[in-house]
Amino acid sequence: MQFADQKPNEFTFVSLLLACTSVAVIEIGESIHAQIAKYGYLTNTFLTSALIDMYCKFGRTRQGEAVFDESPTKDFICWSSMINGFGINGCGEEVLECFSNMLSCGIEPNDVVFISVLSACSHCGLDYESWNWFHAMESKYGIKPKLAHYACMVDMLSRQGNIKEALEFVNNMPIEPDKRIWGALLAGCKNSDGPSEILEFVARKLISLDPENISYYVVLSNLYADQGRWEEVEKLRSMIDTKSLKKIMGYSTI
Ligand SMILES: *[C@@H]1O[C@H](CO)[C@@H](O)[C@H](O)[C@H]1NC(C)=O
Repeated sequence: MQFADQKPNEFTFVSLLLACTSVAVIEIGESIHAQIAKYGYLTNTFLTSALIDMYCKFGRTRQGEAVFDESPTKDFICWSSMINGFGINGCGEEVLECFSNMLSCGIEPNDVVFISVLSACSHCGLDYESWNWFHAMESKYGIKPKLAHYACMVDMLSRQGNIKEALEFVNNMPIEPDKRIWGALLAGCKNSDGPSEILEFVARKLISLDPENISYYVVLSNLYADQGRWEEVEKLRSMIDTKSLKKIMGYSTI
């Protein structure tokens, strides 16, 4: 395009930035950033947010933040790119700060932004804020929590070792919990030495939801071994063997 003396437009650059992110070459991304500046496109919010996404996906949150800070017009896409960028890099405090600045600017949040917010609260161990935002989502902003939001709450409760409360929360969910939710609870049980009845219940639930994943049989089998329930261990072992065998046979026929 450049050899043909064609001027690239904003959409050309959005495509280029997306390509950079997928092939993971930061140097090319930086040179495209320079060209965007040269063509005077830095005021385009699609481009600003694509740049923020790109830098943050490379772990360069500071550069992403610089683009964000220098952007003269920040619309919802810019804010949500920045919030998401902090989130994927584990910067929980920054997520919450950026989110509260966004609200101060009068910009309405959506359901995706709330996933970043709730997961940041969970990672930072802010249980009060987690509940606060979880409830405000629906009551203040009219956004019904989805599975991803519930998963953040279960993750938060599990991380804090509140396994019973987490189970109660899952049992009271108005939508059917999926394996991600049960998985968060299982991880919580394992990390906090939660009650073995709950661990057993959750592992069985996961086996029924995802019977092909052997890791859940292993968790359950280890639990039974700890409790000296050898018959159960035997049963699970033979189930695992059948599954593994099926897998190996499956591969060998390809
Ligand atoms: C099986 O489950 C474990 C624990 O949730 C998970 O880390 C792993 O990716 C799963 N494996 C497959 C093949 O889905």
